[in-house]
Amino acid sequence: MADFLRDAEIPERCFIAALLGPDSEARTGDRKRTNLLAVASQCQALIPNRNVDLGLATLHRSTAALHLAAVKKEYHVAVVGATGAVGAEFFRVLERRNLPVASIRALASEKSAGKTVEFRGQRVAVEELGENSFDKIDIAFFSAGGEISRKFVPIARKAGTIVIDNSSTFRMDLDVPLVIPEINGRDVKQHRGLIANPNCTTAVALMAIYPLHRAFGVRRVFAASYQAVSGSGQRAIDELKEQVAATMQDRRSPVQVYPYQIAFNVLPHVDIFLEGGYTKEEMKMQSEGRKIMHLPEFRASVTCVRVPVYRAHSVAVNAEFEKKVSVEQAREVLAKAPGLELVDEPQKNRYPMPLTVAGKDNCEVGRVRLDCAFENGLAFWVSGDQLLKGAALNAVQIAELM
Ligand SMILES: NC(=O)c1ccc[n+]([C@@H]2O[C@H](COP(=O)([O-])OP(=O)(O)OC[C@H]3O[C@@H](n4cnc5c(N)ncnc54)[C@H](OP(=O)(O)O)[C@@H]3O)[C@@H](O)[C@H]2O)c1
Repeated sequence: MADFLRDAEIPERCFIAALLGPDSEARTGDRKRTNLLAVASQCQALIPNRNVDLGLATLHRSTAALHLAAVKKEYHVAVVGATGAVGAEFFRVLERRNLPVASIRALASEKSAGKTVEFRGQRVAVEELGENSFDKIDIAFFSAGGEISRKFVPIARKAGTIVIDNSSTFRMDLDVPLVIPEINGRDVKQHRGLIANPNCTTAVALMAIYPLHRAFGVRRVFAASYQAVSGSGQRAIDELKEQVAATMQDRRSPVQVYPYQIAFNVLPHVDIFLEGGYTKEEMKMQSEGRKIMHLPEFRASVTCVRVPVYRAHSVAVNAEFEKKVSVEQAREVLAKAPGLELVDEPQKNRYPMPLTVAGKDNCEVGRVRLDCAFENGLAFWVSGDQLLKGAALNAVQIAELM
């Protein structure tokens, strides 16, 4: 078997794709070899291919598929939406994190082809996204909107690329893990070439809700979000800047991204309105929260509000629990939660704010108090950089788990 493996010359991407989705025809590669490799890995064989180290791999059969945790030494990475607000963060996050990157490809629309982005002190040329963009790419981070994901994620998967998608397109698909590493990192192992990154407001709120749920059992939450304009991309950042400047100079400036001026205003409107009156964004905390926390009975009634803040979302949460809670216990739980910092000294005016959390990996929670309307309830305030924990950082953390 070891000889077979040494002579097999199976491209590593096909090998991984085959093992990740042996039941999917387009991605199986060579099924016979897949099975042989599966047997071989159970015998602790070492794959001779360049970057795959099967010595550390674990393999287990499930009814659906064979899953392989192949520990790669270096990845060829693509960022789809490289010139956007999230895309720019990907390059910075990848520079400072541990994911071993062998090469990086920057992909965007036709209008950005020829621009450059910086990675580790080198200029990387932006290429137009196309059907061949995923040749020899191991991992692709998608952040170019739902329509681009719908069209190009299947193309990338077919090429053997593992996709981590920031859009909402596939989040609720049953065979697509939706992952916040601090909460359900284990779900990554179920992937079949596609993992979804959660909604940014949901991600920030769950960073505080989930540890409290583990301790006290969350029943339902009422929440209101205070969402930064960078959540709507680079155009919204530019529009707020322009509107602020225009207002200071007593001139009018065009309103393009939102239905109304966002400078010096707040809009109780994020995403499209659904039947029933909630917006799509507002319903994500319940639907995505259920999937991420593995808690189908979780209920969330949310009002999402856009505020004239450049970066970092905040959420005011009122949560009801199964068990009795105290502020001291809750603070203890929150202080120990991974990826979260307790900033809760109201007497010293210390609480989380967008300005203090922007650019930080950790989310912050504060203003923790007993809820005066719920029996076993807590009120608290959580802030987090949505371009990081709600997008690029979370996606790279997912890749690090693979
Ligand atoms: N912003 C956030 O906080 C946040 C958080 C979580 C998830 N997300 C999701 O991430 C995605 C991107 O968000 P963003 O805020 O970074 O938006 P953005 O600043 O508007 O950037 C959009 C990116 O998509 C690229 N793009 C647009 N049309 C394209 C096409 N036809 N072909 C290839 N690339 C194309 C753009 O390239 P050009 O510059 O060439 O047009 C740009 O790089 C969205 O799905 C969003 O829902 C965003």
